[in-house]
Amino acid sequence: MMFVTEIEAVTTLRAAGCVFAEDEAAILAAAAGSEDALDSLVGRRAAGEPLEQVVGFADFCGVRVKLRPGVFVPRVRSELLVRAAVQRAGEVVLDLCCGSGALGLAVRTQRPQTKLYAADVDPVAVACARDNLGGNVFESDLFDALAGDLRGRVDVLLANVPYVATRHIPLLPAEARDHEPATALDGGADGLDVFRRVVTEAPAWLAPGGTLLSEITEVQIGPATSAVRAAGLTPEITQDDDLEATIVAGVR
Ligand SMILES: C[S@@+](CC[C@H](N)C(=O)[O-])C[C@H]1O[C@@H](n2cnc3c(N)ncnc32)[C@H](O)[C@@H]1O
Repeated sequence: MMFVTEIEAVTTLRAAGCVFAEDEAAILAAAAGSEDALDSLVGRRAAGEPLEQVVGFADFCGVRVKLRPGVFVPRVRSELLVRAAVQRAGEVVLDLCCGSGALGLAVRTQRPQTKLYAADVDPVAVACARDNLGGNVFESDLFDALAGDLRGRVDVLLANVPYVATRHIPLLPAEARDHEPATALDGGADGLDVFRRVVTEAPAWLAPGGTLLSEITEVQIGPATSAVRAAGLTPEITQDDDLEATIVAGVR
């Protein structure tokens, strides 16, 4: 079927249950550039693929981030992590579990003097992050493939790890369940498996006074704080009601 106009795209998107069908049709039309391309993009979106993966970008923290299918879509709530990272002094920032590299890119845009390193275990995410960040993006199970000379030098360790408890995965919107990899979402029994691994290793990589920053849920505040303390770091919790975001910091 051909979509002759954006109006037909609106109708198709609305029928597929898109709440912001008009807005989305306009974004898809701008990204498409031709009727055939619009047909294909509308088809993918109507089938449930996230808009950002369909058009190949997400606008996050005032920055346009390149995306591709299968890569985690940066969430608005993660602006709180960026804000916290920008507030902390120091030039070496490590964006661990970087996905598209959105968080690191946003921090570096606001603090151009930042020396940014990024890592992710998923090769598709790594390729996407390289599109966004250029160099210093490593395919790595957490810290494993990072150069040893970064040890003790990281001023801000951004780690937006997967933190959804396994039993909550079925409750996520289909867009996330079907189009983002489980490795980007599933944090194990209580959602904190990857976080605990990061916290355990963080003190060896943080500079004196350096800070680990991770997004968590409200119910994870207790166990996350305990893990940070057990690693010898000083925990701090920050919440933002508008963003519905909670972050835990661990200061060395
Ligand atoms: C919640 S997503 C966050 C992505 C990105 N930081 C953002 O906020 O848009 C979590 C990311 O962690 C990565 N990841 C999961 N386990 C990892 C591991 N053991 N080592 C490195 N990256 C990992 C996933 O591939 C995914 O890209």
